[in-house]
Amino acid sequence: MQLLENCAQLQAWCREARSSSPLHFVPTMGALHSGHRSLITRAARKLGAADPRVLVSVFVNPLQFGPNEDFGHYPRSLEADAALAEAAGAAALFAPSVAELYPEGQEELTRVQPPQSLQQGLCGRHRPGHFDGVATVVLRLLGLIRPDQLLLGEKDWQQLVILQRVVGDLGLPVQVIGCPTQREADGLALSSRNRYLTPAQRQRAAALPRALTAAAAAPLPAGTPLEAATAGVRQQLEQAGLVVDYVETVCPRSLKPRAELSGLTLLAAAAHCGPSRLIDHVFLMSRAPIVAIDGPAGAGKSTVTRAFAERLGLIYLDTGAMYRAVTWLVQQSGVEAGDADAVAPLLQDLDLQLSTGAAGRQRVSVNGHDVTEAIRSPEVTAQVSVVAAHGCVRDALTRQQQAMGERGGLVAEGRDIGTAVFPDAELKVFLTATVAERARRRALDLEQRGFAVPALAELEAQIAERDHLDSSRAVAPLTQAADAEELITDGLSIDAVIEQLVQLFRQRVPHDAWPEPGS
Ligand code: PAF
Repeated sequence: MQLLENCAQLQAWCREARSSSPLHFVPTMGALHSGHRSLITRAARKLGAADPRVLVSVFVNPLQFGPNEDFGHYPRSLEADAALAEAAGAAALFAPSVAELYPEGQEELTRVQPPQSLQQGLCGRHRPGHFDGVATVVLRLLGLIRPDQLLLGEKDWQQLVILQRVVGDLGLPVQVIGCPTQREADGLALSSRNRYLTPAQRQRAAALPRALTAAAAAPLPAGTPLEAATAGVRQQLEQAGLVVDYVETVCPRSLKPRAELSGLTLLAAAAHCGPSRLIDHVFLMSRAPIVAIDGPAGAGKSTVTRAFAERLGLIYLDTGAMYRAVTWLVQQSGVEAGDADAVAPLLQDLDLQLSTGAAGRQRVSVNGHDVTEAIRSPEVTAQVSVVAAHGCVRDALTRQQQAMGERGGLVAEGRDIGTAVFPDAELKVFLTATVAERARRRALDLEQRGFAVPALAELEAQIAERDHLDSSRAVAPLTQAADAEELITDGLSIDAVIEQLVQLFRQRVPHDAWPEPGS
């Protein structure tokens, strides 16, 4: 690992690194611990063919400390930091002096001031000027390094939100990635300042995560007033002998105060324990997250949705399979598929179950019959859109899907998922591809399965016609929800699409609210 001490060395190294690989940057103030190790390890992870190089900075930034804070005795341990960074996969460590980073002095510096609305609450209120100092140093470092990714811990949630906002507002070409909070066995979030604690203080410090997790333990219905939760946390912290700075509930993105639970809500606290100021948070939710994936036929929704669900530990709700299952039942009952009055009675006692079988494969049963294979038959394929267009079928299955989604924790794929079934999903994606791209994929698929391949122009015409029918039909037409993210998959591999979906999800649902399995 290369040790870089001045800006000229840094810029030369970065230029060289960027020429061959993505450059990922982990800024720190040193005194590295396992929380930093996990950031560096994540930053070094291979993404498909890309093998990123990781730069870590160690700089105790005077601009972000208040006059009575611990700048003078903040722990400094460069040798140990270098060893940890190298072992975790860093390719270089930048450790400048204050004079090197601020050559014109601190008075003459161009400073960055993030929006006041993001600094009014939480730590911003108790540490005036702190986030101006953080934004100023991070922008200076980003300018020198010009990384592709900036990795920050979710532990400092307000810092993460502010830096994401500053980077967005200034249009900087860097992706800001939030990473999960790392904790000790008793729940205490890792922090360089934990080293100030005596064994007795260390024990008391665990009251902070304990109080917060207790408040988040049971899901609260939407609309629940949050005053009791904040008062409860405050009381537990005070009982443990901590001196509370704040216990607040806010919207995780705007950081505006929230008095009632609505959607994902941040419950954050800061308290002094002896010489250390501890901060921590949890997310309150009325249910686990829901992702709704919609889009035209042939855009590859099922394949990516299944893999995305597995990656994030979400249940995959394949609504298409449910419509197929009803179609199978209609055919078995000898009922005319187009006759809504004849189909309706079949829905009265419908027992439609989706479950996970061997090797994670989805099983589908209708009224006790396993129809997993049968619903893929050409006969079902030929009639599913006729059956799925009946209002009575849509109503029955929408109700069942909503019941399945009551506790959340799922990704649902299908027509009108984001508009009719889960209008309050945390993430809605309209996954699509141009007609030409879908025709090309269809041709490839037919060829691989040994079927005759029509001319591309003919396939394109068929697909365009299907799009037109789907989007103009009276019942559940294909429409993009106003708040859906459009993801055009032309030219992207399946892995790249999944990666983009994960990023969209993480912009809305932090790791600390919904961790990835095995993380
Ligand atoms: O989180 C920190 O350690 C610091 O605030 C940062 C981002 C390195 C800026 O000094």
